[in-house]
Amino acid sequence: MNTSPEGKIVILCRISLTIKVHSARFLSRTECVATPLAVRLPGGLDPPGRGVEARFDLTDAAASMASMVSRVAFRAEPFRCFPQAGGGRSARSSRAPVASTVRCASTRIDAPKKPFTPRELHVQVTHSMPPQNIEIFKSLEDWAENNILVHLKPVEKCWQPQDFLPEPSSEGFYEEVKELRERSKEIPDDYFVCLIGDMITEEALPTYQTMLNTLDGVRDETGASLTSWAVWTRAWTAEENRHGDLLNKYLYLSGRVDMKQIEKTIQYLIGSGMDPRTENNPYLGFIYTSFQERATFISHGNTARLAKEHGDLKLAQICGIIASDEKRHETAYTKIVEKLFEIDPNGTVLAFADMMKKKISMPAHLMYDGHDANLFENFSAVAQQLGVYTAKDYADILEFLVTRWKVGELTGLSGEGNQAQDFVCTLAPRIRRLEERAQGRAKKAPAIPFSWIYGREIQL
Ligand SMILES: [Fe+2]
Ligand SMILES: [Fe+2]
Repeated sequence: MNTSPEGKIVILCRISLTIKVHSARFLSRTECVATPLAVRLPGGLDPPGRGVEARFDLTDAAASMASMVSRVAFRAEPFRCFPQAGGGRSARSSRAPVASTVRCASTRIDAPKKPFTPRELHVQVTHSMPPQNIEIFKSLEDWAENNILVHLKPVEKCWQPQDFLPEPSSEGFYEEVKELRERSKEIPDDYFVCLIGDMITEEALPTYQTMLNTLDGVRDETGASLTSWAVWTRAWTAEENRHGDLLNKYLYLSGRVDMKQIEKTIQYLIGSGMDPRTENNPYLGFIYTSFQERATFISHGNTARLAKEHGDLKLAQICGIIASDEKRHETAYTKIVEKLFEIDPNGTVLAFADMMKKKISMPAHLMYDGHDANLFENFSAVAQQLGVYTAKDYADILEFLVTRWKVGELTGLSGEGNQAQDFVCTLAPRIRRLEERAQGRAKKAPAIPFSWIYGREIQL
């Protein structure tokens, strides 16, 4: 991607006159047709490894999305569509608050012949917290022990996946599995796509523990550190580990889903990591986790509600018990940020605004199954359609956090701090308005096949 002398954005890609602009964080899908200003075909129609140079002018919806953010860059994803010189990484964006994907003709594409190459989405900013602030987290050691570790449950009192699954050593095992499969027959495919996506998200837990251990001042320095922060991170991970286990085993026993495709997606996802843009900065990191724990609480709560509506009370119980863990974790992370607001209101409100400007990416935003280059967007669209996790939820979470941290009541802020305060306090209604507009413009989407359910299609 380049910028032409006239300031137009130039995208190198196979010829395609449709640009899909979407915001994964808002879960909205806005399509617009780009106007080709010029198309040059260097070396013929299908230059090996080079693609076709085309110039696009952004119109309409893309421009309105672009106006929402201070910096816009575009990420084409040609490396999965056709090979490029230099390993296909040349098209990566250096910064992409709004991701734009130049689509191939079909969402189903051949598996890449080369080994999987992780994508880099942004300039990776590191260690953005001033080093002196590390002292804040050191001084909060005792506070964390008394206020955060209390939100962990002793292992002996925790539920385990086996509590909700057929007991393999019992005589009634086969009968229980049969009953589970009978119940799952009543559940539609679009629900399974949401449940699978949620399960895959949970199963990428190694990535989330890594992410927490990137944070300066709170990371587990040894792998068995006794600081409150490290104890929390390990115990949190251990609690979370039950979520993926339980959903994975339920889905396996249901017989409704393609486990091998799901397992491949998990392997790809852990290999890709995640890009939450938290910059080794625990202010940003704990704002991110506060947001995400509430998002997963909402999402699992909704799959519980829908399972009940489909008559599977045991699955409703499974999703509900996971949601209750997420709620407890949300309480802990929001308490940490509440404390940061108390100690350093200016720094914390700046961090909050920074995360919201960058948008909260979902933990599984890099998911891929070897087939669908837009898997995460397609999964998100099904979750949006079913009401499992929606753009409205995103705005609601933001509003919840603004209230929870009493951001509107902060006083004595710097000029920049005041601006950040205004930004976060007025953002939720703006997101809702943009989403409503995007929904109004949305065209009927095609039916999307999901490898997770043997290629069966979901009508969006
Ligand atoms: Fe979880
Ligand atoms: Fe969680």
